[in-house]
Amino acid sequence: MAKKTLTIHEVVKYPDPVLAKPGEAVMEFGPELKRLVDEMFESMYEAQGIGLAAPQISISKRITVIDVSFKKNPEEKIALINPEIVERKGKQLEEEGCLSLPEIREKVQRAAWVKVRAQDVTGKWFEVEGEELLSRALQHEIDHLDGVLFIDRISRLKRDLALRKIKKMQKNGEW
Ligand code: CO
Repeated sequence: MAKKTLTIHEVVKYPDPVLAKPGEAVMEFGPELKRLVDEMFESMYEAQGIGLAAPQISISKRITVIDVSFKKNPEEKIALINPEIVERKGKQLEEEGCLSLPEIREKVQRAAWVKVRAQDVTGKWFEVEGEELLSRALQHEIDHLDGVLFIDRISRLKRDLALRKIKKMQKNGEW
C-alpha cells in the first residue's frame, strides 16, 4: 500500500486570534477527520510536542491529540474529539510550556487527576483518566479548545513578564 502523504501544519504562535477563540464542536466523523487527526499527530511530533490542539493549527474545532510518551508507547497516543473534563481531584504545581508560546515556561497549578469524556475519530464516546503529566496535558489541551492559554492561568506579574519577553523576541525577529 502506498504511504499517504500527510500535511504537516504550521503551529501558530501567540497572539494569533485563533488561539483565543473557543473551538466549535465536531459534528462529522469521517475519513477527513481521521486524516486531520493523523496530520495533527505528525505536526505535533515535528514540532517536538506532546500535545496539540486544532486551534494551534488555525482550525477552530474541538479536536486535540496527546502523546505523553512521545512515540515510545502507541497506547499513549490519544485523540480526543469534543472532550470535556468530567471529574478532577487534587492539585499539582509544575512547569508548563506550549508550542504556541515557545521559550516561555512557568509553573501552573492544575488538578492532580482528571477524568475526561470525549469522542474518538469514529464518534464513539470514551473516558480517559490521567494523573501527573497526562492530567496536565489533558487540562492544557482542553483549555486550548476554550481559547485559554497557560499564561492565562499564572499570576498577573508572571504573565506581564512573559508578555514582555515575547515583545522583546518579536522586536528581535525571534518570534
Ligand atoms: Co499549548
